[in-house]
Amino acid sequence: MNATETFDWAAAGESLAESVTLIAGGARGTGRTAALSLLQLGARVAIVDLDPGRIATVAEDFAEYGTDRVFTAVADCTVREDVQAAAAATAEHFGKLTHCVYSAGAYRAQRPTLDIGADEWDLIVDSNLKGAFLTYQAVIPHLQRAGGGALVSISSLAGRTSSPFLGCHYTAAKAGILGLTRHLAKEFGPSNIRANAVCPGGVVGTRMNDLLSELHREQDLVELAKQTPLGRNVHEPDVVGAILFLLSDLSRFVTGATIDVNGGILTI
Ligand SMILES: NC(=O)c1ccc[n+]([C@@H]2O[C@H](COP(=O)([O-])OP(=O)(O)OC[C@H]3O[C@@H](n4cnc5c(N)ncnc54)[C@H](O)[C@@H]3O)[C@@H](O)[C@H]2O)c1
Repeated sequence: MNATETFDWAAAGESLAESVTLIAGGARGTGRTAALSLLQLGARVAIVDLDPGRIATVAEDFAEYGTDRVFTAVADCTVREDVQAAAAATAEHFGKLTHCVYSAGAYRAQRPTLDIGADEWDLIVDSNLKGAFLTYQAVIPHLQRAGGGALVSISSLAGRTSSPFLGCHYTAAKAGILGLTRHLAKEFGPSNIRANAVCPGGVVGTRMNDLLSELHREQDLVELAKQTPLGRNVHEPDVVGAILFLLSDLSRFVTGATIDVNGGILTI
């Protein structure tokens, strides 16, 4: 479409129905909710996750959409062969692969920097940052073959500031995602591939519940809500709204950008 023509809002909104999205870390939390929302919009999704039990559960939960709309694969995104195989299997299953969301990553509760060993650094940085790099390496050739597409990475408020609940490895990895996003936007813009990031504040859900109960800081969520200008905490659909915008043609000229989803608790 010519950029100056009358814009077809309905088509832009409906563009996701034609998409095939690989969601890394899609078996739980925000990735799972993003997968479900895409299915409800008529899209096809490949849910990729390290955890075979979660993959089995999500495959069962989404069975009503049929195998022509849902594909699942167990893969560790930090292992090149795993993600290459998952991307190739997705493209073969659906005949194409057009979009990718990177929502995978490990975390450790409130870690003082001087206590973090090299192995723990590698676990957090590899699963949150190297995994995104390897996943995008695997999917980009398929997006190029499809004529373009969109990449959306889930960074964090921690990547914009630091985290009160996690550690310096997590902050560094999430800040790294923002750099990776900017670089991919420049390098693959000419292939009609957009790359953007979403930075959620603490999201109410299984991970946050586990984290706060481990730290005995459940009350912090109440305090966070009070400090948030919009008056409540972040929920998964808040994050998914930004993801869907960045995947769809509604954001067709947005690339290299970061969208904060935090109710206004941090404004930059
Ligand atoms: N929950 C929050 O408060 C919050 C806030 C800001 C950002 N984030 C980020 O959003 C993303 C999603 O968070 P969530 O709360 O849904 O997390 P979650 O823990 O519920 O889900 C993450 C999924 O990623 C998978 N995973 C982990 N390492 C993997 C690997 N190496 N390869 C493949 N899959 C792997 C896990 O098995 C899990 O199913 C994460 O990147 C997280 O850092 C979360």
